[in-house]
Amino acid sequence: MGRGVTEAAILFFFHCISSPVTGDGSGEGYVRPLPRQTLSLPWRPKRSSDPQQVHISLAGAEHMRITWITGDASSPSIVEYGTLPGMYTSSSRGECASYKYLLYSSGKINHVVIGPLQSNTVYFYRCGGQGPEFQLKTPPSQFPIAFAVVGDLGQTGWTKSTLEHINQCKYDVHLLPGDLSYADYQQHLWDSFGALVQPLASTRPWMVTEGNHEKESILFFKSGFQAYNARWKMPYEESGSTSNLYYSFEVAGVHIIMLGSYTDYDVNSDQYAWLKDDLTGVDRERTPWLIVLSHVPWYNSNSAHQGEGKSMMAAMESLLYAAGVDIFIAGHVHAYERTTRVHNGGFDPCGLMHITIGDGGNREGLAQRFYNPKPEWSVFREASFGHGELKIVNSTHAFWSWHKNDDDESVKSDEVWINSLASIGCVR
Ligand SMILES: *[C@@H]1O[C@H](CO)[C@@H](O)[C@H](O)[C@H]1NC(C)=O
Ligand SMILES: [Fe+2]
Repeated sequence: MGRGVTEAAILFFFHCISSPVTGDGSGEGYVRPLPRQTLSLPWRPKRSSDPQQVHISLAGAEHMRITWITGDASSPSIVEYGTLPGMYTSSSRGECASYKYLLYSSGKINHVVIGPLQSNTVYFYRCGGQGPEFQLKTPPSQFPIAFAVVGDLGQTGWTKSTLEHINQCKYDVHLLPGDLSYADYQQHLWDSFGALVQPLASTRPWMVTEGNHEKESILFFKSGFQAYNARWKMPYEESGSTSNLYYSFEVAGVHIIMLGSYTDYDVNSDQYAWLKDDLTGVDRERTPWLIVLSHVPWYNSNSAHQGEGKSMMAAMESLLYAAGVDIFIAGHVHAYERTTRVHNGGFDPCGLMHITIGDGGNREGLAQRFYNPKPEWSVFREASFGHGELKIVNSTHAFWSWHKNDDDESVKSDEVWINSLASIGCVR
């Protein structure tokens, strides 16, 4: 307890305080829900070798990375698994890491890659040779495939209802375009976030990219993304990237690129060179759909974070357009917005559809001020907490829907059928 107080006092110097944007709501006849408090999760004593904060992620074709944390540094980094409960026919050994941040020392963070795995199959697994059994389902190898999408998640009462709604829908892979825990330098909040998401993240792969809240850098003292990189290792090595801050993966006919808004992206940067290379390797016969995620939106008509994506867009938009990227998904702005197909600031029949979905439920609350009049490229916008579902039906059709947390009930509020650019003659 005392340690927490000291940590909080130290952090006071580094903490960036951002106040929630509150609109007056006048003329709308609907009172926007207020932010909810950060959850206080009950502390349950566990044996220190028991796996905690288990989450999984795709790690190259037919492989899955299992990540968990133990208090006990001697517990082995092994995962035993099989397709029947309690019958572990295979096992894999992996790597481990730990880190220190001010007065905080992390537990032992284990990463173990398992596979080759069959597609669309339930596996039962155990971490560290003991403790409870978990189960996961691998994604399908062919269409249809469903993605759950939510950004700026946090760990509040709203986060809890968003996660409950996602848990009720049928999906194969979870996509998160940045801002995970809102730990904001307080490292124990990464642990409580890991515990909060474990029931979902241990059963379906969570593919994430970094937001500003992952940075946690301290001038002259701490470079950024230490906790994020240690805890949320993504398949960057598997996709030819040299940084956990950007990578790509393929699943069931979809090529997904996770870009980093908080690392260099100019035309001379490593990220740009990697992106160019990665796009060259995309085969639209194998993956008719091409999707990009990044934290900061490029097309945003909310007054929050206005213009922040401008320089990245200037550097990369034409590259993505030429490659025929279908959909660009961002977070950061705590609201929902969907555009028409756009390029170079206006409608283009072969342009990208942009979706901003930074409304997972973080403690800062909603971004309620949209610019008026609504730009012609903005189709639907609303400041409510919620999540998205992207169902890729086949090589030509996908169905996108947005579900808001209206009084804790998930209400489908926006939906659209999307034709793949490859199917309408836009991909050369
Ligand atoms: C793809 O799915 C859509 C929507 O269900 C359907 O209309 C279309 O015929 C399908 N296309 C193919 C090639 O199966
Ligand atoms: Fe953000």
